[in-house]
Amino acid sequence: MKRFQVAIDGPAGAGKSTVARQVAKNLGFTFVDSGAMYRAIAWMILQEGGQVSEPKAYQLAQNSHFSLHPQGVIVNGRVLTDELRSPDVSNLASTIATMPRVRQALVVKQQEIAEQESVVMDGRDIGSHVLPNADLKVFLTASIEERAKRRLEDLAQKGLSVDLETLKTEIAARDLNDQTREFSPLIQAEDAYLLDTTQMTIPQVVEKILVLCRTKMGGEE
Ligand code: DC
Repeated sequence: MKRFQVAIDGPAGAGKSTVARQVAKNLGFTFVDSGAMYRAIAWMILQEGGQVSEPKAYQLAQNSHFSLHPQGVIVNGRVLTDELRSPDVSNLASTIATMPRVRQALVVKQQEIAEQESVVMDGRDIGSHVLPNADLKVFLTASIEERAKRRLEDLAQKGLSVDLETLKTEIAARDLNDQTREFSPLIQAEDAYLLDTTQMTIPQVVEKILVLCRTKMGGEE
């Protein structure tokens, strides 16, 4: 069967991973959380307590073996899930994502995965750069207030407490970092379907994307 590629991009907290995971499950496709790969590099650097530098981050990106895990990523045999979600890792991942050589190394790995199986891949540059020929591209957004609230609930479920204003400030900073970086910024691909999820529930967003997928696959809506 021909491989099918779904690219889901958008800013932090738009619900991409949750939605992409459920869409993939429903279609029987592989879910690829590309952000978890950037986060894993950040986590490794923090673990080592070392200075952040592009050569160091590049060396980790290039030489680490990544495999998929439904709740995160497996790096060099180590399962990383909740530890990737701390604010420290989020902030450092955003910095690392501005480094061109790190991006190049991770993009190659993401493309290799998508060559092997049908995927739903979420990130910032999937439709615009990683999988430019994806069968379906979706750009998910939501207001910054709503995204901060969602992140707060997410962290609370994991036992982490952060206040809403701090989260809003951090999300705004990450948006700016993601949108203004020189190399592969967060951008809506021309042929992407824009979906504002501010007023939508997760099941509604998932269903909408499944309808779009079925249409692209030539099935009925
Ligand atoms: O989606 P996320 O919050 O887990 O992503 C973590 C960081 O990595 C975030 O700052 C954006 C960046 N990222 C990226 O630049 N490109 C991707 N394809 C995925 C994530």
